[in-house]
Order: sequence, then structure tokens, then C-alpha cells
Amino acid sequence: MIIKPVVQGVVARTCHPVGCKQAVKNQINYVTQQTPAQTGSTLPKRVLILGASSGFGLSARTALAFGAAKADTLGVSFERGISDKSVGSAGWYNNIWFREFAEQEGRFAGNIVGDAFSSQTREQVVDAIKTHMGGSVDLVIYSLATGVRPNPATGDFWRSVIKPVGEPVTGYSVNIEKGTLESVTMPPASREEIEATEKVMGGEDWQDWIGWLAGQGVLADGFRTVAFSYIGPEQTHALYHHGTLGYAKAHLHKTKDELNQKMASLNGKADIAVCKALVTKASVFIPGLAPYLLALMNVMKQQGTHETCIEQMYRLFYERFYTSSNDSTVTDSNGLIRMDDWELSPDTQSKTIALLEQINPGNFRQMGDYEGFVKEFMQINGFFHPEVDYSQPLNLAELKSLIP
Ligand code: NAI
Repeated sequence: MIIKPVVQGVVARTCHPVGCKQAVKNQINYVTQQTPAQTGSTLPKRVLILGASSGFGLSARTALAFGAAKADTLGVSFERGISDKSVGSAGWYNNIWFREFAEQEGRFAGNIVGDAFSSQTREQVVDAIKTHMGGSVDLVIYSLATGVRPNPATGDFWRSVIKPVGEPVTGYSVNIEKGTLESVTMPPASREEIEATEKVMGGEDWQDWIGWLAGQGVLADGFRTVAFSYIGPEQTHALYHHGTLGYAKAHLHKTKDELNQKMASLNGKADIAVCKALVTKASVFIPGLAPYLLALMNVMKQQGTHETCIEQMYRLFYERFYTSSNDSTVTDSNGLIRMDDWELSPDTQSKTIALLEQINPGNFRQMGDYEGFVKEFMQINGFFHPEVDYSQPLNLAELKSLIP
């Protein structure tokens, strides 16, 4: 079978398993080519990643397993394998290839594919930590991005929405399928929608996970945990920072402080890394954000500061999170790790906003880095990798025999 890219709006309906392998390999190559960091003795040796199969989670896993930490990793993700209807999701294959590469280096790399909100998945994680990771982990990375979370009390679901709060916002969304920029007006969210988004993307589940792992005795003394946030410049605040997602992130930030109090007895520490805006399966879905992303990519590439997930995660763990100076994490005055520092630098912002103000459906390909945006989107789904011969048919039986 020959697999071609099929995109619906901004959702990839196919992925290329061999291209996914190349994407994982490229991230590993990036990590192994860095000069090993001098980060003291506290680098984590056993890491649990919730949301490990793509985006920041996969890159964090790669940086820690293949960088100086040489960590064993356990990854949780919600992905689908090959079926009669579909070839499966990119994250499914990323899990497979990551494990294969990590095992070649003698590292443990377990994958649990299931709903991170379910008690069954939680129990599987604890079993795996006890069986394969010496009984405890010293870092938990919380990198889930999802639209739904089951409400155990009702059996129903909380569903997050990406909307402004208070006033409607009009902007442009990109449609990768059609190659167009389309005007969208987002109505303000209702109180229920804001609360549901907080439930799905806020800190409650992070707190539940840490509480559950602590209760099961699988968090090492002095363990650390980190979740990811976004703030962005004022020009995007109406649709993100002051919108439903921003409310959820504010809840996540508050949760960090609560966790720090609760976990003191284990010498545990919770952090938030505020990351830069970049192309992932989740971020392309945010209505109205694309023009900013197109302008930002254009400027940061010109300035030589463009980063994808792997560069961000490598810099996070080896320059900010675990540091050589007495192992103290570098944070701002609010206790947040600012991986968006290059994005928000005055020079980058003034150039980006100047471009953003001019971008429209007629000129976005010239004013923004649309080509780079599409390339990154395709590459995370296994396409557009020059090393891969896409004319080669894939063996379905062989693909079916692969398990994460
Ligand atoms: P992503 O879509 O690439 O990855 C999400 C991961 O969560 C995948 O591994 C997926 O399998 C897993 N997942 C989703 N639902 C699950 C479930 N029910 N059970 C188990 N696993 C599940 O997303 P991305 O962009 O890496 O986002 C991760 C975090 O980073 C999010 O909190 C996001 O808000 C944050 N962030 C993202 C930025 C961006 O530009 N992409 C910028 C700053 C923060």
C-alpha cells in the first residue's frame, strides 16, 4: 500500500509510518549532536511522561532518554493503531519507533496506550513503574492536550472549547487542506464552557495524577513534575491568554502552587514551563492563532532563533530545569520557567507584530512562513521527509505486527 497525506481542514487523516520513524530519528539526532550539558548530579533517571507520543511530550522524552540524562522512560498516550479504516495515528508509530531506538541504546521505554483519565491506565502505570523502573520515578511530565475528559461522577464528559471570554473575536484560521486563510468569528464562551475547559485543560487531572502516584508510593524522594503553559503577546491574548484556554492555564499555574505545598513531605517540586508557540497536532487547531504563528516563524527563522519541540525541550531540561548552578531551576519572578523568552523578546515581537498587522488571505504565503508551517505539520505526520521514498509500498501485515 502507498500512503498519501490526507488532511481535513487542519486534521491529518493519514500518517506515514516510515516517515514517523524518520521524524523520531531526526529528534534523536538533534539531541545526540548537542554538546553534553553540565547539569550536576540530579538529572532524572526514571521519567513518566503523560502525553508522550507527540509534541512536547515526545520531545521531552527524547531529550531525556538520548541526552545526558540517559533516562528510562514510561510514556502514556491515547493513539490508535492500524485498522481496516485507517493506517493509525502518527503517535502510535512514534511510540513504536521511540521504543525501538531507546532499546537499542539499552534503555527501558515502556508505552501505555490508553485514556490517561481512566483508573485502569493509572493502575497500569503504577504496575509498570514497580515492574520495570525500580519502583519509583523522579520526574513526571504532564503534557496532555485533549478536548474531552470523562466526569467520573456523572459518566458524562467535560468538553473543552477554544473561545474568547467576554467579547467575540474575529481573526483568521488556516485551512491546510485548501491552502487558504479564512476569516472566523469566535463567539464568547459561556460560564459552563469556561468551567469545562478548566476541567479538561486545567490542573485538576495533573493534581490527581500526582496524588495517586504519591499514594501508591511510586514517587522518589525529591521528585519533580512539570506541566506546559502558554501566555503569548498581547495581540493574541483575546483568543488565548484571556480566553478559555488562558483560564485553564491560570488554573494549571494555581495547581503548581498547591502541588508544591502538598508534596513538601516528599521533597517534591512542581513547575510550569511557559513554552513558545509552535506547530503541533494541538496548536494548529486553535482558531485565529495561525497568522501569528506564520509571522513568528518567519521572523524567528530570519533571526536564527526558530525552535521546534525538540529544541525547546532540550533547552528546557538542560539549561533551565536541571542546571549546573547548585541545581536550581531558572524561573521568572512568578516562579515560571520562561521558554517563551526568545519568542517574546522585544525585537522579535516588534517585527512579528508588524508582519501580523499586514497578513491577510491574499498575502499570507509571502508575509508569513506558510511553507515552513505546512512542512512542519506534514513532517509530524510522517510526510515531507526528504530521506523517505514515498513511492515504496508499505507492507500492511508488517505494520499490523508492530506494537507500541
Ligand atoms: P500534542 O497534541 O502534540 O500531544 C498531546 C499528547 O497527549 C499526545 O501524546 C496524546 O496522545 C496525548 N493525549 C491526549 N489525550 C489523551 C488521553 N485522554 N489519554 C492519554 N493521552 C492523551 O500536544 P502539544 O502541543 O504537545 O501540547 C502539550 C501541552 O503543551 C499542552 O498542555 C499544551 O497546552 C502545551 N503547550 C503547547 C504549545 C504549542 O504551541 N503547541 C505552546 C505552549 C504550551
